[in-house]
Amino acid sequence: MRAWSRERRAEGGIIAFVPTMGGLHDGHLSLVRAARDLADHVVVSIYVNPTQFAPDEDFGSYPRDEERDLAALEAQEVAAVFVPETLYEDPLTWIQVTELDARLCGGSRPDFFRGVATVVAKLFHIVEPDVAVFGDKDFQQRRVIERMVADLDMPIRIVGMPIVREPDGLAMSSRNLRLDPDARKRAVAISESLDLAATQIAAGERDVARVTAAMNAHIEGAGGRVDYVALVDPETLAEQTSITGPVRAAVAASFGGVRLIDNRAI
Ligand code: PAJ
Repeated sequence: MRAWSRERRAEGGIIAFVPTMGGLHDGHLSLVRAARDLADHVVVSIYVNPTQFAPDEDFGSYPRDEERDLAALEAQEVAAVFVPETLYEDPLTWIQVTELDARLCGGSRPDFFRGVATVVAKLFHIVEPDVAVFGDKDFQQRRVIERMVADLDMPIRIVGMPIVREPDGLAMSSRNLRLDPDARKRAVAISESLDLAATQIAAGERDVARVTAAMNAHIEGAGGRVDYVALVDPETLAEQTSITGPVRAAVAASFGGVRLIDNRAI
């Protein structure tokens, strides 16, 4: 992979990289299209990274369909797809982006961002891209990667792209495939709760506790189990208590046992 990238760069080509775990949908493909506009060559990786799953999580059952993914990428005319069989051999080295990794999803998934930062750093060293594209669906992940790149002087530009949604508002996710029809219908309450927060704040509400209580009630009313709802500073991801400027509303909740995340700038 690295030899291929170095040849392209020796020819003066710019390389954009889109890391994924497969189960590709229009959200992923929107990143590929953005990458095409940013570079001469697009590289996509497909690797279900074991170090970002806890033992009780869904590593084993994560949606995998390599043939379908490769066909979708071929239609997008990507230059290369990197599909490593494994990237680890008993590693002793980890990348931890402290503070940012403890917020939001870090509460219930304490080692998650260590796994993400480590695998993305490894992929960056293998692919050696000029620019890498990430979706705002995983807003905390993008902030973690941006901070890693800044702190470790990695010569890679990080570009964030908007969340792609289903017609009813549900954020596209590989895990949506695992929702049964009833849970799928009810899960729209997650994006609705973000709209509710935006509406309340637009109407003058400045007390975060009142906004998050309404979001919680909306999701629980639809039968969801809330992991967190929060309004955070978009840079530090620190929870706010009153609204004095731009915030990111963020939610993690389970429907029918499937944990979903979503967020929105307000
Ligand atoms: P994965 O969940 O496959 O997501 C790959 C990329 O697609 C991420 O940047 C994610 O934010 C983006 N994405 C997913 N759903 C999206 C949507 N509805 N709209 C826009 N973008 C969306 O994120 C990972 O994989 C992994 O943690 C990875 C970075 C590959 C490291 O293992």
